[in-house]
Amino acid sequence: MANSNLAKAKSAKNDEFYTQYQDIEKEIMAYLEFNPNTFAGKTLLLPCDDPEWSNFTKFFAQNFERLKLKKLISTSYAPDSKKLKITYAPSLFETNDPQFDKEKTIVNGKIFTLTRDKSGDGKIDVNDLEWSYLKGDGDFKSAEIKKLRDEADIIITNPPFSLFKEFLSWIMEANKQFVLIGSMNAITYKEVFNLLKSDKMWLGNGFKSGNAYFSSPISNEYADGVFDKETGLVKFRNCCWYTSIDHGKRHQPMALMTYEDNLKFSKHKEIKENGYIEYDNYNAIEVSFTDAIPSDFNGVMGVPISFLDKYSPEQFEIVGSDTDVKAGNLPKLVKSNWNGKIDRGYVNGNRIYSRILIRHKK
Ligand SMILES: C[S@@+](CC[C@H](N)C(=O)[O-])C[C@H]1O[C@@H](n2cnc3c(N)ncnc32)[C@H](O)[C@@H]1O
Repeated sequence: MANSNLAKAKSAKNDEFYTQYQDIEKEIMAYLEFNPNTFAGKTLLLPCDDPEWSNFTKFFAQNFERLKLKKLISTSYAPDSKKLKITYAPSLFETNDPQFDKEKTIVNGKIFTLTRDKSGDGKIDVNDLEWSYLKGDGDFKSAEIKKLRDEADIIITNPPFSLFKEFLSWIMEANKQFVLIGSMNAITYKEVFNLLKSDKMWLGNGFKSGNAYFSSPISNEYADGVFDKETGLVKFRNCCWYTSIDHGKRHQPMALMTYEDNLKFSKHKEIKENGYIEYDNYNAIEVSFTDAIPSDFNGVMGVPISFLDKYSPEQFEIVGSDTDVKAGNLPKLVKSNWNGKIDRGYVNGNRIYSRILIRHKK
């Protein structure tokens, strides 16, 4: 297959991952624990969703009262517009509804809203969702969805991975709060990193043990180890939540050992054998493991991007990253002379893993 076809196939595949209910619940509860009124009186938009199946819609509809929401809006993307072409079968919920339209179900998106106790059973929940077809296909970039974005206070979804950057700037241009799932790799995009560096965005509470499980119409096309036969789900270790909403984990400082203690007691043999190696051309030390960050080092340290999962703005300041290095704002971090010691993360003196440059907050 030509490279461009391969890239297209990969990005089509990467767009169709459906989030598990318990992952959404775990994440949202972390914001609520920090501030029980995080969502009170707010209008929530869940774009790029499939409200009939989506656990996002289900979770927020079922917890409408508990979260004290004002309005829930959820929109879907038309099957005909999706990059991954799979035979689409509308749900019974849709086909049994008088407004069902066999053309529109393919080429239009849908909108689900929740504001009131439509069923009259004394509570507002999933049974009170009202729906209709959108005028267009539900593309988040369309004027129709932009209008909904502008109406919302908070935007929550797992957006298509292939459009993550575009999706984030779509939110930022409207200055909305958000909670999004994305790949950890996105941290190295300039636009994404700049938001992290300036504390306009941070990582959320996170997936249980760092493992994100998704359902996918093509989950069995994934390799063993990613596709889990038992659950039928795919498992990714490099997914995280990106958010602009505060939560408790973000304010918990990491417990760290001193420089000297790490040299003696670190569980990483590289640290005990090599110590902290200075880069050739930038005044910083390489710290290949987040838990080996010395508590008493005053200079700049190059740490793995997974550090961001433990980052507390009260404890550390983010100085830069590979992004700055690539942009020529910082020299390339190289370490050429390892004196025959363990050369972890480097090939011929060139670093292969991304680094974030940090220092302790004064
Ligand atoms: C990663 S999936 C997540 C779906 C759902 N939010 C969930 O987590 O279960 C992203 C969804 O966005 C849809 N999508 C792709 N491009 C889109 C676009 N331009 N506008 C809106 N949705 C889009 C995909 O077809 C897919 O259904």
